Amino acid sequence: MENLKKYQMYIGGEWVDAASGDYFETDNPYTGRPWGLIPRGGQQDVDSAVNAAHRTLNSVEWRGMTASKRGQLLRALGDMLGEHAPHLAEIEVRDNGKLYAEMSQQTEYLRQWYYYFGGLADKIEGAVIPIDKADNFTFTQYEPLGVIAAIIPWNSPLFLAAWKIAPALAAGNTLVIKPSEFTSASMLEFAKIFEKVGLPAGVLNVVTGFGVEVGAPLAVHPLVAKVAFTGSETTGKRIYATAAEGLKKVSLELGGKSANMVFEDAHLDNAVKGVISGIFAACGQTCVAGSRLLVQRSIHDNFVHKLVDLARTARLGDPMLSTTQLGPVTNRPQLSKILDYIGIAKQEGAEAVIGGKQPKEASLQAGWFVEPTIFIGIANSMRIAREEVFGPVLSVIPFDDEEEAVALANDSNYGLAAGLWTSDYRRALRLPSQLQVGTVWVNTYRAMSYMAPFGGYKQSGIGKESGQDMIKDYLQKKTVWMSTQEEVPNPFIIR
Ligand code: NAI
Ligand code: MG
Repeated sequence: MENLKKYQMYIGGEWVDAASGDYFETDNPYTGRPWGLIPRGGQQDVDSAVNAAHRTLNSVEWRGMTASKRGQLLRALGDMLGEHAPHLAEIEVRDNGKLYAEMSQQTEYLRQWYYYFGGLADKIEGAVIPIDKADNFTFTQYEPLGVIAAIIPWNSPLFLAAWKIAPALAAGNTLVIKPSEFTSASMLEFAKIFEKVGLPAGVLNVVTGFGVEVGAPLAVHPLVAKVAFTGSETTGKRIYATAAEGLKKVSLELGGKSANMVFEDAHLDNAVKGVISGIFAACGQTCVAGSRLLVQRSIHDNFVHKLVDLARTARLGDPMLSTTQLGPVTNRPQLSKILDYIGIAKQEGAEAVIGGKQPKEASLQAGWFVEPTIFIGIANSMRIAREEVFGPVLSVIPFDDEEEAVALANDSNYGLAAGLWTSDYRRALRLPSQLQVGTVWVNTYRAMSYMAPFGGYKQSGIGKESGQDMIKDYLQKKTVWMSTQEEVPNPFIIR
């Protein structure tokens, strides 16, 4: 029996085991071996966490705290996260197999969400309405929604959680967080840091466990006001349906099948890098993966050659090493899913010009590796071009002109993002508004910021994250009417 690190959950400011006393193993995708034990939460743990969050919501310590103080504590949390960034990155890599080079950048950048929304906490102002009725003083104020359930996936746990935690707390809500069963450790390590900041106990709770055992009861809990979810389309839709029963607010970020469009006038070497970063970075396990390459027919063969040449140099290996460019995929089911899709693409008649299998090297046998894979001979109607693979698998689709490129890009159920590679500034200005997606990158890909709203069109989701406006999604507006009249007028007539 290996020596596994045993974690506890964080509920109401206490470190606790699951009520059942059960644990499950969490694996290291590079070694294919378990390294930690995570408490297997259930209904009872969800109840305690939601109750703790709800008690704190209306407590003197939290409700009575000024917005400035709240903001100050969130900024202090940002500072502390900065100090622990390398440690947090190491945990992320151990649990999800993404490159340390990328995760360390992410955990370093994480603090910005806490600074930004911490700064916003005391700048949320209601209004005095110049009301049309005499002898009335009418104003609005913003109030927190209540208890927020944040359900997080495995690809960038702390990053995607910060997008929810920072605005939710800045707005004065309390939270119950459920990390993915594949990557729960980093959120528990985060809670250890959070605890030191001095926010009231119960403001933030972490319940670990499986989707049906923790996620589902959390999403329908009567004391939860909003469910903020990132993950698969299937689970997102289920949450949306069940949340309707309790009229809960919902935000959903559900991935995509994003088109990276390369025109013949593009700077081709830059475009090659952009396409590679769009699909092979993070092993393709990002919601914004540019998994459909739309390339102008006149440059198709040349461009595919260049892509293959660069993809061939990709070094697979230990994600902790700075020389590694592609790590393993995060979990066993995901590995099977990717291999299944590779099989489907081949059955549909696609040709793999590189990859299309697991690597043979002895050093890569323990981990869950897939070769970077590029398919040509793809029609946009094929499953490989329509469904999210969430792996290092690129589908190349040729187009003749701009009109066809736009039509192909938009011919998708998803609408998360698109990339556009062109040297023609007129085209660069013309196309973004024609693309049915939430984010367009022109001559770049996968750029993100706490300041820039992010979210999907169509089946890619509901609501935005990041950016100033979105804090309103964690608030509700109240209108207060005050009479300045000495006498109450005729009670039988509406005021
Ligand atoms: P998932 O959507 O099942 O899991 C996301 C979170 O939801 C996890 O915390 C999970 O425990 C929870 N969950 C699962 N079932 C639930 C339920 N019935 N009620 C409430 N919560 C529930 O995603 P999974 O299975 O981990 O990955 C499957 C696919 O999802 C991937 O292959 C990929 O295509 C997509 N995905 C998309 C992401 C994105 O960033 N949009 C992130 C991760 C996965
Ligand atoms: Mg793991």
